[in-house]
Amino acid sequence: MVFPEYRPRRMRKNEVFRSLIRETNLSTSQLIYPIFVIPGKNKREEIPSMPGIFRLSVDQLAKEAQECLSLGVHSVILFGLPEKKDGMGSGAHQKDGIIQRAIKELKNKQPKLMVITDVCLCEYTDHGHCGCIINNDVDNDATLEILAKTALSHATAGADMVAPSDMMDGRIAEIRNCLDENNFESVPIMSYAVKYASSFYGPFRDAADCAPQFGDRKTYQMDPANSREALREATLDVDEGADILMVKPAVAYLDIISRLREEFDLPVAAYHVSGEYSMIKAAAEKGWIDGNKVMEETLLSIKRAGADIIITYFAKEMAKRLHR
Ligand code: PBG
Repeated sequence: MVFPEYRPRRMRKNEVFRSLIRETNLSTSQLIYPIFVIPGKNKREEIPSMPGIFRLSVDQLAKEAQECLSLGVHSVILFGLPEKKDGMGSGAHQKDGIIQRAIKELKNKQPKLMVITDVCLCEYTDHGHCGCIINNDVDNDATLEILAKTALSHATAGADMVAPSDMMDGRIAEIRNCLDENNFESVPIMSYAVKYASSFYGPFRDAADCAPQFGDRKTYQMDPANSREALREATLDVDEGADILMVKPAVAYLDIISRLREEFDLPVAAYHVSGEYSMIKAAAEKGWIDGNKVMEETLLSIKRAGADIIITYFAKEMAKRLHR
């Protein structure tokens, strides 16, 4: 087909034509909204580097969930800030810890909402690393047991799905075994399979108060330069029993999303992270871009690259735009 027989503009005449042949569509049912939970009562604190995103105390969660559900966003992922941090991140798996209380509150008040939990220790350790420290290093194998305990405590509190983000080797198998041994074989694992050591997490680390107090996360999170390694990471998690593979961040890693989509038949999720959100918000506030349109184009690009599921701070705003 060549010009003038083929004229691509024929099918772009108006929105009816365009939408008829649209290859990618966003749907609220595949958006996951992240929520930060903090101790205290009646707290709703806006995160300075993430305009429009709030840290909420447990009593505020039902209202937030109600808003999500009414917009057609049926899934949330929870991050918790504990009252106290320690070297082993023990606050992560307490029976009445912040996330465990949050899950119970949400499952009680809004049972239709899917509650996913982030399984990691960095919000709970005083050193801010995603595992426990032995001999000045994040100890992989000692951390596995704590992660499994954490995932189990989330499932016990009623979580619908757990999402390990720590990047320790072997954690999917460890968590799967632990859940299965305790009769939670029906709780799926959404693995942060391919998580890069990224500077796009900056605003999140303010929000969740989890920046490492020494060193960085490069000994466990992936080198941004690598894509073949992403396939090896994902293969491990598939073999260990992951139900969903996640790539994180999203926009700077669209090639990775696309490769995972081609190589694996599991659902692929992409985490459109805090820095990616904040950059759009900041430029929009300055009037340099149209924030709503850039949001939509960005989320569409993540879908087009091959993600089935998008975790994004824009979930509610995007849902409002889709319902226009
Ligand atoms: C915890 C975790 C992080 C994010 C999700 N889970 C921070 C990190 O790894 O440093 C980042 C999410 C975001 O930036 O929105 N390990």
